[in-house]
Amino acid sequence: MCGIMGYVGGRPAKNIIYAGLQRLEYRGYDSAGIALLGKTVQTTKAVGDTSQLDMEALNSKLTMGIGHTRWATHGKPSIPNAHPHTFGAVTLVHNGIIENYEDLKELIDTTKLKSQTDSEVLAGVIDYYLKKSGNLLDATKQALAEVRGTFGIAVISPEAPGQIVVARRGSPLVIGVDENQHYVASDSAAIVDHTDKVIYLKDDQIALITADSLELYDLKLNHQNISVETLEEPGQTLDLDGYASYLEKEIHEQPTSLKNAMLGRVLSDGSIKLSGPNLTQEDIMGLENILIIGCGTAYNAGYYAKYQLEKMLGIPVSIEHASEFRYRYGAYDAKNTLAIFMSQSGETADTIASLREAKRRNMKTIGIINSVGSTIAREVSHGGIYLHAGLESSVASTKAYSSMVTALLMLGGMISYKSGKDAMVTQTVAHELEALTKEIEHTLKLQPQIEKLARKLSKYHDWYFLGRGPLYPVAMEGALKITEVAYVHAQAFATGEMKHGPIALIDDKHLSVVLLPEDPLLYKKSLSTLEEIKARGGNVLTVSTRPKEEASDHHIEVAHNGEYTDGLIYNVCLQLLTLAVATKKGQNIDRPRNLAKSVTVE
Ligand code: F6R
Repeated sequence: MCGIMGYVGGRPAKNIIYAGLQRLEYRGYDSAGIALLGKTVQTTKAVGDTSQLDMEALNSKLTMGIGHTRWATHGKPSIPNAHPHTFGAVTLVHNGIIENYEDLKELIDTTKLKSQTDSEVLAGVIDYYLKKSGNLLDATKQALAEVRGTFGIAVISPEAPGQIVVARRGSPLVIGVDENQHYVASDSAAIVDHTDKVIYLKDDQIALITADSLELYDLKLNHQNISVETLEEPGQTLDLDGYASYLEKEIHEQPTSLKNAMLGRVLSDGSIKLSGPNLTQEDIMGLENILIIGCGTAYNAGYYAKYQLEKMLGIPVSIEHASEFRYRYGAYDAKNTLAIFMSQSGETADTIASLREAKRRNMKTIGIINSVGSTIAREVSHGGIYLHAGLESSVASTKAYSSMVTALLMLGGMISYKSGKDAMVTQTVAHELEALTKEIEHTLKLQPQIEKLARKLSKYHDWYFLGRGPLYPVAMEGALKITEVAYVHAQAFATGEMKHGPIALIDDKHLSVVLLPEDPLLYKKSLSTLEEIKARGGNVLTVSTRPKEEASDHHIEVAHNGEYTDGLIYNVCLQLLTLAVATKKGQNIDRPRNLAKSVTVE
């Protein structure tokens, strides 16, 4: 959570830092701030996103500084709580949580604290050691030795002109390298316009950066080797391309993002080639269980794939919330289990912790990741699949979901083929995936119809999303999306569960979105539930590959593409529904309240 951007070089720093922070706003946007270093430190801060910053307050000639965009952990969004924090001669920006900040207050004069944050206390502790040693790198190292918790920090001081000290434990930091200038950011998206040469800080590393030098150490100040990597993903624009929001743009990008996910992987002869996962023939033949782990939408994508992979491979596929897996005793046979980590950002704290736990248990781990070079992508033991979905700027995830499902379907198709199971499965999946992008294009054309529906439906505050089989996790994703973007109270249930409790809430103020499956038997069974809801005065929106049923109040008809991929088509309708309801209600579509895109704290 929270974004960090820093610059030191020969160019005016303020606009470089501002533009970087804009790129990072998806990580948090409840307050922002920039501090530039000259003879003294100049700071501007604001509540809200970066557009609220008074940039005129900063000197255009200064050539180094640090900035931050915040998602509050300690202390509500306010100017005193916004970063950068200055205590004495130290100014810093911090991502993460200092768990023992109350204890650390013993080292500082607490009457000087202006905020309620743990981060300002850390600035105070660095200042305490700076007074003793007069050396910013050393003082930061000494302060961090006292810290329990997580941090990604960038520190400056008028007593260390031209220097930025950065350090990481648990919160990502990347250094951008260029001639006579360096950048620091919590995500390469903020620096990719300037340079493609980067150094990813590892946990418990600290670096001293000036315009023309870079020294890397561990937290005991032992020198570390520097390995400069080249960013693979080109910089991407933040243009809305005529759409009213990034959410809308990203929903409409899905035909392209799906093509990119399949490029060179799904071949026209019905085969599937994946070079990312490093699984030997022996690994594949010995595979007895698959375990999928993620959070939020990534979890929902994995849940949909669970149904499909079990059908394709005939082996048990489990799905776990990363926040549960990391602390739970799950009895998995490490030798024959493939653990798959799903994450758009590759930086979600619970997913990273679960990956480390799975590796500790000697499982084979692979990643399904969008953000190239992210922590999960770098830490998995057996490679993985990059989504190539492009930058997802809207906080609510849409195109990453469909690409994650596609990646898992491709993986299932490849494993099925290599393990000598039914060759037809791979061909069916490949052909369905090939046809899918066209069908999604058609589905997107339903937007005006769905907007019309949303005008009628946005009056309902309580929604159920019901699905059976693989449409159950699609219902879960529909409920999550409309909750977070349109602030609708929504819950998902497996359709067959209705009679076991949820039906108690049905009345004429309640809307049920019933996803009717293609399968004739399950279709009929779902219709009975529809009738039961109607019999209790409930309102129903159906989504189905068949025409409207009489009992249904509102209906969206979608195309049937195939058993493995239909859920993605239903999901696009639900994405459009969320967008339309949220727009009708006048919500902040791309920056819903209380959320951040990348949840890098527990
Ligand atoms: C919902 C949403 C979140 C993320 C979740 C995991 O729209 O965006 O639920 O899916 O925080 O994030 P990643 O995929 O980055 O690990």
